[in-house]
Amino acid sequence: MPSVIDQHGLVKRRDRFLRQLGGYAAIIPAAPMVVHHADCEYPFRQNSDFWYLTGFDEPDAVALFLPHRALGERFVLFVLPRDPALEAWTGSRSGTQGVVDHFGAEVAHPLEELPLRLKDYLKGAEGIAFRVGKHPKIEPIVLKCLTEQLDSVQRCGSLPFSLIAPCPILHQLRLYKESWELELMREAARISAKAHELARNFARPGMNERQVQALIEKCFLEHGARGPAYGSIVAGGDNACILHYTSNNAPLRDGELLLIDAGCSLFDYYNGDITRTFPINGRFSGEQKDLYQVVLAAQQAALECVVPGQNAEAVHAIAVRVIVEGLLDLGILKGSIDSLIEQDAYRHIYMHRTGHWLGLDVHDVGAYRLGDYPVELEPGMTLTVEPGIYVSDRFPVPEGQPEIDNHWKGIGIRIEDDVLVTDKRPEVLSEDALKSLEDMQK
Ligand code: GLY
Ligand code: MN
Ligand code: MN
Repeated sequence: MPSVIDQHGLVKRRDRFLRQLGGYAAIIPAAPMVVHHADCEYPFRQNSDFWYLTGFDEPDAVALFLPHRALGERFVLFVLPRDPALEAWTGSRSGTQGVVDHFGAEVAHPLEELPLRLKDYLKGAEGIAFRVGKHPKIEPIVLKCLTEQLDSVQRCGSLPFSLIAPCPILHQLRLYKESWELELMREAARISAKAHELARNFARPGMNERQVQALIEKCFLEHGARGPAYGSIVAGGDNACILHYTSNNAPLRDGELLLIDAGCSLFDYYNGDITRTFPINGRFSGEQKDLYQVVLAAQQAALECVVPGQNAEAVHAIAVRVIVEGLLDLGILKGSIDSLIEQDAYRHIYMHRTGHWLGLDVHDVGAYRLGDYPVELEPGMTLTVEPGIYVSDRFPVPEGQPEIDNHWKGIGIRIEDDVLVTDKRPEVLSEDALKSLEDMQK
């Protein structure tokens, strides 16, 4: 399926990046193919930084951004060249002419020429912006150029030539979503929500978690998504207390809850990330209902906090407070709210953060804190809000807290929405996935 990314948007985005690089030349590699086993590979997944700047979805390419060069020579792509014999196996490649014609490359070369040409392209730059430690095939080529430049700087006594990471610049840009990106995020959330609605209406005691997973992922594919954005979590009963449970191979039992954390990834790589929890037989038990209401109240309070001027830590803090208060009321914790929070004495029941940035990566890039200061929420940022309660024998009760009665155990609940910060109320992108107590029951 073709990408809807508009080239005009990408030109503006590259210009912004080039301006912020100052005199540094950025080297941004594409992802390679990754071996699954023997000579079989995983489906290709582009490096999100590379995708953000190029919209080019082929492996083993390298993009150069060269603010020190003349107009028309600032966006250079090195790509795998056309090769009809290989393309018969792996599908068509754009080749050097294709990326000039269709992807806005100002100049393009075959990838194998990178070691020969890189040094010339870097001449006149103040330094290199390249992320070390992530691109084992490209890094030696970059470091060789850097070494040679440093050696020649010493001889000719010119300006120091240094290596920086491009991430702080690029990830700050990626933190704010443009309007056309938001349309794609709404679409990812809509498809993901539809799958959750289907799954809740489908699940019955006696089925296997895997059958529900199959329905969810079928829905993603049928609605034009690339597939799941991450390993779908379909977790009945106590399995829901394993935060990244993906084995999804247990029977769904009468009387237990089913937690589903699943979202789709579009062909443009924007992602949904939604969690819903509901009773498998359609009726909450008393304990399940009590805990569900606490998580729902925590999520509502946290959502209210997703407004400009607040920050992700404040969103987490309010969710923690509502959960601790609820657990105190139910006798699952004891003590004063403030000291329980201060001493983390709730973390055997709520052990993760309340959300993360969401975008081209599910756990998207962007700082949460700059030095001593939490990053303030601003319109255009997108994040998840996902408090939970997990009561299980898996987690030891901290000293001073009561042992938990068996009737609470095996209950794992999370409610997760995808949210856009606006200058007014937050926009819940995933609102099509219902979550009220009544809606979770049949
Ligand atoms: N699905 C992973 C997460 O919610 O962060
Ligand atoms: Mn999730
Ligand atoms: Mn999440």
